[in-house]
Amino acid sequence: MLEKSYTLPCGQTLTNRLVKAAMTERIAGANHNPNRYHFKLYETWARGGAGLLLSGNIMVDRNSMESAGNVVLEDDRAMDKFQEWTRIATAGDSQFWAQINHSGRQTSRLVNMRPVSASPVQLHEKGLYGKPRALTEKGIQDMIQKYRTTARLCMEAGFQGIQVHAAHGYLLSQFLSPITNRREDDWGGSLENRARLLLEIVRAVRSEIGPRKALSVKLNSADFQKGGFDQDESEQVAGMLEKEGIDLLEISGGNYESPSFLLNDQNGVRESTKKREAYFLDFAGRLRTKIKTPLMITGGFRSRSFCEEALASGDTDFIGIARPFLVSTNFAADFLSGKLEQVELPQLKPSPAFGLMSEGGWYAYQISKRLSRGKEPKMNLGAFHAVSHILWHETKKSMAHRLLG
Ligand SMILES: Cc1cc2nc3c(=O)[nH]c(=O)nc-3n(C[C@H](O)[C@H](O)[C@H](O)COP(=O)(O)O)c2cc1C
Repeated sequence: MLEKSYTLPCGQTLTNRLVKAAMTERIAGANHNPNRYHFKLYETWARGGAGLLLSGNIMVDRNSMESAGNVVLEDDRAMDKFQEWTRIATAGDSQFWAQINHSGRQTSRLVNMRPVSASPVQLHEKGLYGKPRALTEKGIQDMIQKYRTTARLCMEAGFQGIQVHAAHGYLLSQFLSPITNRREDDWGGSLENRARLLLEIVRAVRSEIGPRKALSVKLNSADFQKGGFDQDESEQVAGMLEKEGIDLLEISGGNYESPSFLLNDQNGVRESTKKREAYFLDFAGRLRTKIKTPLMITGGFRSRSFCEEALASGDTDFIGIARPFLVSTNFAADFLSGKLEQVELPQLKPSPAFGLMSEGGWYAYQISKRLSRGKEPKMNLGAFHAVSHILWHETKKSMAHRLLG
């Protein structure tokens, strides 16, 4: 089934069920535009033939980036660069959609000492992330306009769809979670209020892109934090998004304090899922009985046979895969053709001193130093090298952002 095409509610057809999930590239210079490194990276992925390539998160505001190397799309000054990027990524049969995001409190201090969020609730890692300010009513209205503007510019750039990032603890996820949203106005409190910003943004994006372009949302199945956004609430939000007529719902989970989207170890998940590859599949099965929106599950898929099983079960319509795209330049083509049955990823255990930095650094290195330069990944990269790479890379990008951006 992996090779079977699928027509979305908007009428667009994806040629197969394999999706390259969003992976932040962090290779933009101080102007935050796509450059020759993005072009090379997506030229490689376009050759692979996945039905859909999701961009790494494109930020709607240069004051709120998850990395100083992010692409930002706020105006049309570098439209030719964005058009070149979409032309390259769609040279084969893949569609190319923009994932749009605002990092809220998960903005590093190197980028912004006083980011905005739903409420002034700081991340546990206070050294890396500043205390956020709560958005004012005007700030919220401006935020909706920022997403609207970026969505309009994405269409001009030639993206065939938009994915609104509402997962992984970024701004929209901060509004959804009762831990980070302590507001007492129309944007906080009840789930209906906490979901209001996401729904307003979805409506604004749809009104910019029209009914024939694809609109997707990436949503957490849960934050996996006590008192946080949970599976019952996620199910209800999925129902609200179905009513908005979105074309694809991607399911993930976790945030910077509980990074279950990268680790198969979330609390409260049924044992059956832990034994299986794809850790959000049980939740999707539950969702499937409630909503008709096309579903994509991302996280943990490693074998072709399991992808086939998941599709055949009907619990998911698309298979979202991220890290395996960084261990071989031919991953998608080999996986789709059946030449590759099982992907092996390096075992990078989080260390007490550096947490997930060795994991993050390892994959960031493959993007910035290898694939975006047309090279095969460096599989024997050690944890120390990976951590020093990410520290130096982010410092350099942040300095450039501050001095020249
Ligand atoms: C290097 C890297 C960058 C990522 N950047 C993003 C991102 O920009 N947006 C997003 O939604 N998820 C991002 N993710 C999460 C992936 O999309 C995906 O949810 C996660 O890696 C689990 O899928 P996998 O097990 O197939 O890797 C990133 C993951 C990695 C490894």
